This record gives sequence, structure tokens and C-alpha cells, in this order.
Amino acid sequence: MPGREITVARADELEDGRSVKFTFAVAGEHREGFVIRHEGRFYAYRNECRHIPMTMDWVENRFLSTDGCHIQCATHGALYEIDTGECVAGPPAGQSLHRLEVCIVDGEIIVTVPD
Ligand code: FES
Repeated sequence: MPGREITVARADELEDGRSVKFTFAVAGEHREGFVIRHEGRFYAYRNECRHIPMTMDWVENRFLSTDGCHIQCATHGALYEIDTGECVAGPPAGQSLHRLEVCIVDGEIIVTVPD
């Protein structure tokens, strides 16, 4: 996949159920993304709801619903599956978050973002 890799954080510094945000630019426009660790695996998405393209964290860097089972958009409460990014409840039901490739290299979380 074309793109460029950015180092987000050390994997061992991100506890399960926690997230870390990062920024990148696409065609000169500022974008935000986040990596979330869930059941030992890492998932990366653009921080942009599929209902209205707004950031989703209800408090800075807090993405999960109160039960910890879904990514929740702060604006209208859409719920997204953590592992697939698919919206299962709320206005954009059936659509999916923009997923970014993530891997761990030498203990670092590496995300591939668009050029
Ligand atoms: S902006 Fe996210 S559910 Fe409406």
C-alpha cells in the first residue's frame, strides 16, 4: 500500500483499552488518527466519524464507550466495532471508519498514512 510510515509510540507503553493519537497531513491538510489497543492487538483509524467528518473523542484521546466494547463518537453516539471499524449503531450504521495499516517493529507502533 502506498503511503509513508510514522512512528506513533512504543507498544509496551500503550495499555489494553487505551489509545494514542497522532497527526499527519494529506495534500497539505491536517488529519488526526489514533491507535487503540484491544485484547492485545493494535488497530489504527483516522479520527473522523463517518456521519459527519468530525473528530470522535469525547474527552481528549478517549474513544471507547463506557462499557469499553466499542469506539464511540462523541457527537451523536455512533458505535463502531474496535477490530473492524464498522459502525453497528447510530447514523452511519453499516459504514466503516477509515482504517490505517499498523504494525509493530522493534517494539514501536508504526502506522502507514496516505501520502
Ligand atoms: S458526527 Fe459522529 S455520530 Fe454524528
